[in-house]
Amino acid sequence: MSEIIIAIDGYSSCGKSTLARALAAELTYVYIDSGAMYRAVTLFLEHGIRMDHKPSVDAALEQIHIDFQYGQEGLVTLLNGENVEEGIRSMAVAAKVSPVATIPEVRRALVRQQQALGRGKQIVMDGRDIGTVVFPHAELKIFLTASLEERVRRRSLQLLRKGLSVPDEEIRKNLLERDYIDSTRSDSPLMKAPDAVVLDNTNLTEEEQLLVTVILALTRKRRSIV
Ligand code: CDP
Repeated sequence: MSEIIIAIDGYSSCGKSTLARALAAELTYVYIDSGAMYRAVTLFLEHGIRMDHKPSVDAALEQIHIDFQYGQEGLVTLLNGENVEEGIRSMAVAAKVSPVATIPEVRRALVRQQQALGRGKQIVMDGRDIGTVVFPHAELKIFLTASLEERVRRRSLQLLRKGLSVPDEEIRKNLLERDYIDSTRSDSPLMKAPDAVVLDNTNLTEEEQLLVTVILALTRKRRSIV
């Protein structure tokens, strides 16, 4: 059977990573969270780097090395060798990541790394431009959606599990702001690839099994024809 690339795109907090993780585990593929890479760059740039000054951004990008480690707590993001999972999931980073992700130099550097990670295929990557820009030839593309209220509810639970109690209103505002910036930026905006399968994930908890099964069936079908 041929190995493939699975690209999952969609708005903030609609369950992309849960689905991508489950798929990667089922297929024994590698899961890559491309959003974590934008979050890690944001964390790094927070140290007083002028984001509107191209040479400063270029110099900072030269100093950034992002890796993923698969440990007992699941996927861990390393920024220059340091575990930054806690920092990159903070609301402070969530508030700044979308503007950082509009910077063309940042996108170019990260897309290059993401494409290198997918060279051997056998990868599930989630993000905003995976099926459109990073892997336009991915054999399976999924565009995931979920209702805003469900997305707020899930993000709130995720934060609570990390000991962070954030008011729903703040979460809702952040998700809407990021959705807006991500889908209206000029460089690789979030959009559904014409050949992506759209899946509504609003009822994932009850339908998770079904959804994963459907996707696995789609995957098998694609793999048998490539
Ligand atoms: O987890 P959540 O869905 O909230 O977001 P994320 O996947 O961690 O991505 C954080 C931010 O990174 C997004 O809001 C985008 O601004 C940016 N991003 C991007 O521009 N392109 C990607 N491929 C992935 C993330």
